[in-house]
Amino acid sequence: MTFLFNSDAARGAVFAKAFAAELPELPFSMDAAGVDPDAVRYLITWTIPDNLARYRNLEIVFSIGAGVDQFTMTALPDHVKVVRMVEDGIVRMMQEYATLAVLSLHRQMPAYRAQQAACIWRALPQPQAAQRRVGVLGLGVLGRAVLERLKPFGFPLAGWSRSQRLIDGVTCHHGADGLDTMLAGTDILIVLLPLTPDTRGFLDADLLAKLPRGAALVHTGRGPQLNHAALLDALDNAQLSAAVVDVTDPEPLPADHPFWTHPNILLTPHIASVTQPESAAQAVIDNLRRHFAGLDPVGLVDRRRGY
Ligand code: GLV
Repeated sequence: MTFLFNSDAARGAVFAKAFAAELPELPFSMDAAGVDPDAVRYLITWTIPDNLARYRNLEIVFSIGAGVDQFTMTALPDHVKVVRMVEDGIVRMMQEYATLAVLSLHRQMPAYRAQQAACIWRALPQPQAAQRRVGVLGLGVLGRAVLERLKPFGFPLAGWSRSQRLIDGVTCHHGADGLDTMLAGTDILIVLLPLTPDTRGFLDADLLAKLPRGAALVHTGRGPQLNHAALLDALDNAQLSAAVVDVTDPEPLPADHPFWTHPNILLTPHIASVTQPESAAQAVIDNLRRHFAGLDPVGLVDRRRGY
């Protein structure tokens, strides 16, 4: 029985140390070429290796990141469990980024940045938090954690998910009707949806048109969910006032892409949240213990849904 680590060596060293300390009975390998393929029961990786079929006794594939959209699920035998990365570091970083983005938009940083460039010293009218409605698309671990972190600021909070959720202090919507209702009442929209066939291209002109005029977008989902032309149109005709964009399609963006220089786009290179090796190793070890005890791992993916 072996745990195979297929990612960068620096993170691997942290995992190796944690495994040696906490699960010494489980052999840990970072050597995909040297390991006995029949011994490999658990694999952690970012993408599915081409030669996956050689691991005939594989039980679980762990994603090294929060998403599993990069996995070709059809390459995996049906009985293999797929587990997304749910760990404190990723959660905390997403809370930080979403808070930073919401506060930047709420306090009009794109407008003040433009004023600074033009040497203009002028206070803009400032709505208070109670008048700024923040909505989150996607109420998974990250969406819920972001809402929790935003609570103390006093923004009216809403969330939308495909199926119904209840979150204390958050107006929750679901389904197609719920989506329209939420969008109509959202001034700052945060996207934390998984990438699936249903959410590819989800952020299109129709959806952006359902937000109140002058609303803003925080895109922290996956690049292919956003129609770039639709975002540019919405900004240029003032349907949207600004956007914070961390994920694009493709990544990186080509040098001549309009997002780089758009005055109302704050662009970051997919850094909103990154797996932290210490807490990730602990999360995987905890999940293996759950598996050994016959329990489902935290972050188990429903392979038919794709998240
Ligand atoms: C980053 O986007 C991740 O999936 O962890």
